Amino acid sequence: MSLSDRLKPVSAEPLLETLTTAVLVLDHRLHIAYLNPAAENLFEISKRQVGGHYWPELVGAGKALVKRLEATTGTRHPFTERELALHSANGHRMTVDCIVTPSGKDDLLLEIMQIDRHLRIAHEEHLLVQQQAARELLRGMAHEIKNPLGGLRGAAQLLESELENDELKEYTRVIIGEADRLTNLVDRMLGPNNVIENRVINIHQVLEHVRSLVDAESYPGLELVREYDPSIPEFPADAELLIQAILNLVRNAAQAGAQKITLISRTRRQFTIGHTRHKLVIQIDIVDDGPGIPADMQEKIFYPMVSGRADGTGLGLSIAQSMINQHHGIVEFTSEPGQTVFTVYLPLGVEDA
Ligand SMILES: Nc1ncnc2c1ncn2[C@@H]1O[C@H](COP(=O)(O)OP(=O)(O)OP(=O)(O)O)[C@@H](O)[C@H]1O
Ligand SMILES: [Mg+2]
Repeated sequence: MSLSDRLKPVSAEPLLETLTTAVLVLDHRLHIAYLNPAAENLFEISKRQVGGHYWPELVGAGKALVKRLEATTGTRHPFTERELALHSANGHRMTVDCIVTPSGKDDLLLEIMQIDRHLRIAHEEHLLVQQQAARELLRGMAHEIKNPLGGLRGAAQLLESELENDELKEYTRVIIGEADRLTNLVDRMLGPNNVIENRVINIHQVLEHVRSLVDAESYPGLELVREYDPSIPEFPADAELLIQAILNLVRNAAQAGAQKITLISRTRRQFTIGHTRHKLVIQIDIVDDGPGIPADMQEKIFYPMVSGRADGTGLGLSIAQSMINQHHGIVEFTSEPGQTVFTVYLPLGVEDA
């Protein structure tokens, strides 16, 4: 019996459908003839929408690549392109390796591996650990400040009640007022406590709540747009925490001077957060058209007390990250002048082995 006799016959299509590598077939005009779910996921497109579309345009393939692909439809010579810069249909940038093999009469088979995702995951883990350490340090400090602050305020109150001269009471009021302000700050530094109350929630109720809060803050000229995927299932989470986290992100965009903020919800299948692969993840994008985050700040903004605003405390993002981490999710961003995207990934609780 030969080796091949012992192998089971398998049909290619179901196999392609379960593959985690993105696979596409392009016809000789470089229009999409087939794509597997991994490719749908990677390029954020669906089979239904893109069958027959011109692939290079959809993903921003450069002229050099297009030339090579066109040549290959004639020469039938396979090739590999490394570290190609492409983007998804929604504009998310990615770096990929791409193997191109002629298939059939004049089709091309493309196997695409996203490489920046691997690099990014390692980098993200490292940053998360550092941010957590910074947060712990800050929490410790906040605790130390909080206790004497209570004593200070109490003493000022006692003093005030003993004072007969109203002018002198002005001073105790300053002490009490400032102590209250510091207590507020310290409470924010302490951040969310570790108990989260999970109830079954609808993510769009959370987003709508944030929208109405930001609306009420009436930023001049600000337009809030929503693009929700109504098919997202309900899931257990702490709505209060999610509202606070997303509010911090939307508020930042508004405070940066954005004129348009778009809230987008969608689901991602087979998505990795940290080292865990999840069957289903909710992705919330907060897209703003503001000035963007200066390059030299980008590495630091999730650390507590890092702010680019004169009146900012620099706690908003650190708190948002911590609240989303408590839900086993993560907050990421990309930013350039005119387009900043903060993305919240929330797993729906089903881990993939
Ligand atoms: N969408 C955005 N556009 C431009 N800059 C941003 C954006 N989001 C965050 N930033 C920058 O990141 C910094 C840190 O944000 P973070 O929310 O942590 O603190 P903050 O807004 O300064 O203060 P706080 O939120 O505590 O009031 C901001 O000060 C701002 O410079
Ligand atoms: Mg903020």
